[in-house]
Amino acid sequence: MSVARRPAKTGLVSARGNGKVILLGEHAVVHGVPALAAGLSLGASALARPAPAARLAVSPWGLEARPGDGSPLGAAFAALLEARGAAPERAQGAEQMVEAVVELPSEGGLGSSAALAVATLRALDRAEGIARDFEGSQAVALAWERVFHGEPSGIDTALALEGGLVRYRRALGEAPARRDALRAKALVLVVASSGERGETRRTVAHVAALRTREPDAFRASLRVFEDVVAEGERALVEGELEALGAALDRAQALLRGWGVSTPRLDRMCELSREAGALGAKLTGGGGGGCMIALAPDAPTRARVRAALAARGFSSFEATIGGSSSALEVR
Ligand code: MEV
Repeated sequence: MSVARRPAKTGLVSARGNGKVILLGEHAVVHGVPALAAGLSLGASALARPAPAARLAVSPWGLEARPGDGSPLGAAFAALLEARGAAPERAQGAEQMVEAVVELPSEGGLGSSAALAVATLRALDRAEGIARDFEGSQAVALAWERVFHGEPSGIDTALALEGGLVRYRRALGEAPARRDALRAKALVLVVASSGERGETRRTVAHVAALRTREPDAFRASLRVFEDVVAEGERALVEGELEALGAALDRAQALLRGWGVSTPRLDRMCELSREAGALGAKLTGGGGGGCMIALAPDAPTRARVRAALAARGFSSFEATIGGSSSALEVR
């Protein structure tokens, strides 16, 4: 982990963090199983400027926080500032006012909180002339994420920092976190919102309680998850869309078994498959939020989106893999 000094920027400083979509392995990743995820080109941007007191304003959420003001955002901001301050090289001096714009829905499973944390951290670091490497940035962003997510695996913040298409395994015990870039032909996902807010802290705690209540059954389901992710990765890199779709369906069944899907997400997955998708599942924390569907071609994607739209579910398309390191969104 390294933190270095570089010339501080004067005036207004801007920075970004990416959103993400988890293809396979959410929740299981908290318990040590690898997960496959891609960065979104949508995320959050932040502007920092000198101010008498540290403040964070977030549009379009209409939120404004000061560290320790009693609000969840104020608590996350305070945790981030404290984690930054732990670096001995941190410049002393004026506080910063951060104005952030989040381009993703909150509690939608697309990593809006991590994107906001990373954009805020980067804007503050740039303004103060601090260059932090990946590990250093990840440690600070995780301090923020713990306020919202309880026990984050670090996948959201890793993707917020670097984007790309990766296999991610969290740090466990002595073993450090691993992120391996994956090469795959470009493929297009339909990403659709259930309109329900998914609270990741609650669903992560729910899965942790399952582990405590039924440790043997939970261990067995983690092994199945590990197989599903490995098979999904093989299918992804070899461009076998049908096998990848089957892995998405198996993952959705496991997530439903863990109680982190909702009837609405299940219905959206069914609608997508009936319209020709090769597979569909929730993405991210679940309990609401978004789902993804894999369709073999543009006409099928259009049918999937029309079937979802007819029931009031909005969607967009995102390209993962290929030469782009981040998803295009249209
Ligand atoms: C949230 O985007 C993904 C979860 O696996 C939580 C985490 O990994 O921190 C549900």
